[in-house]
Amino acid sequence: MKNTTSYSSDTFLVEGGTSLKGKVRVSGAKNASLPIIFSTILTKERCVIEDVPDLLDVKNACELIHLLGAEGERLDGKVLIDPSGVRSSETPESIVKKMRASVLSMGPLLARFGKARVALPGGCSIGARPIDQHLKFFVSAGAQVSVRGGYVNIEIERKRPVEFEFELITVTGTENALIYLSGVEGRSVLKNIALEPEVIDLIEVLRKMGASIELEGRTAIVEGSGELRGFEHRVIPDRIEAGTLMVAGVLTDGEVELENVIPEHLGAVIEKLKYAGAEVEMLEGGVRVRRKGELRPLEIVTEEFPGFPTDMQAQFMVMLAVTPGRSMVYESIFENRFQHVYELRKMGARIDIRGRSAYIEGVEELRGAEVISTDLRASASLVLAGLIARGTTLIRDIYHLDRGYEKLEEKLNRLGASVERLPALVS
Ligand code: EPZ
Repeated sequence: MKNTTSYSSDTFLVEGGTSLKGKVRVSGAKNASLPIIFSTILTKERCVIEDVPDLLDVKNACELIHLLGAEGERLDGKVLIDPSGVRSSETPESIVKKMRASVLSMGPLLARFGKARVALPGGCSIGARPIDQHLKFFVSAGAQVSVRGGYVNIEIERKRPVEFEFELITVTGTENALIYLSGVEGRSVLKNIALEPEVIDLIEVLRKMGASIELEGRTAIVEGSGELRGFEHRVIPDRIEAGTLMVAGVLTDGEVELENVIPEHLGAVIEKLKYAGAEVEMLEGGVRVRRKGELRPLEIVTEEFPGFPTDMQAQFMVMLAVTPGRSMVYESIFENRFQHVYELRKMGARIDIRGRSAYIEGVEELRGAEVISTDLRASASLVLAGLIARGTTLIRDIYHLDRGYEKLEEKLNRLGASVERLPALVS
């Protein structure tokens, strides 16, 4: 196995064969931190956000609001933001291409300045990821929206309340609309919204800032305000990091205890783990997970919350790859989220893709190989595969992992894994 590292990104070297045992603390949620950081643009007062994970995406989000004129600092999970100096309403392509969640700057900038100019996010390896629903919302709210030269230009003469129904459930589309409407006087109604825990955490923050937001199923009734306050908020735990570590414990036939977990955020994941043959114990503020016996094959369909999360699909695929029998995974959210399958095949997995369905034939064991990360959750699945593969697995392009997992190799090694980070030759 060549273990030369790449020029552009760190590489992981993973030794297979250890059972994970012990306790780790789960970090704060990336996908809650991002919309909450952008919502600070709505106020001129100081905001304090706690338990924010130290991730590339968070760094980019803080860099963006600094670029827009905010002051702030990030230290040991605490982000302090003074947004009084926000002047610019333009989010440059240089930032958007690094982090597509920058589209979340549209709502707050439009609410604060009556205009926003944001570079169009490209697609990514898991799908085209259009933002038509975001733009349809702004048009329905009375804004002029035009797309020119790779930028979206949004302007509004007079902000007014609106009734809008999303044609499909979109997490950041819902967040963009909720942040915008929190800055608009009057009673607005949003229908068919996403209810992911990260959306609910954002709603908690918007309420602290002074917006009134009532939920009735997938309908939100928002009474916004032109004078929103600063806030202090501790971000919810990252349910996807927790789910990933739970799968690692079951996969390696170990016993893993996780602190800082809200089990209600993982209902569908815990249900599937139990059905697969895991024992999941609820503890005070955490969970303990271990395998109970032989793993059982599963049928998984990814859905919007509270259904099985698409962000856990790749991780479960690894477990099913070594589960005796035939399993099936249907990816209903993204049209191209099976990139990890091609890499898992290099390790001996028997997975057949037909459209949005993957059919998995369990094999005895996976073999270490040289594999490439393609997106955030796919890279996590390759690390899981390396933990159980015979021999050594070399995983390239680890920057994908660093976007969404805080020090994953440290957490896994604390549980007994052997994951070595080989720094890029040219950082
Ligand atoms: C959020 O992405 C998350 N990102 C994703 O997590 C997550 O996978 C996804 O929600 C689904 O849960 C953040 O929160 C920063 P969507 P988002 O809009 O909001 C289509 C990770 O791993 N759609 O809910 O971009 C879209 O193409 C990341 O942390 C439209 O057609 O996802 C997709 O098929 C990956 N038009 C589906 O809806 C739109 O205007 C769901 O997308 C918007 C979305």
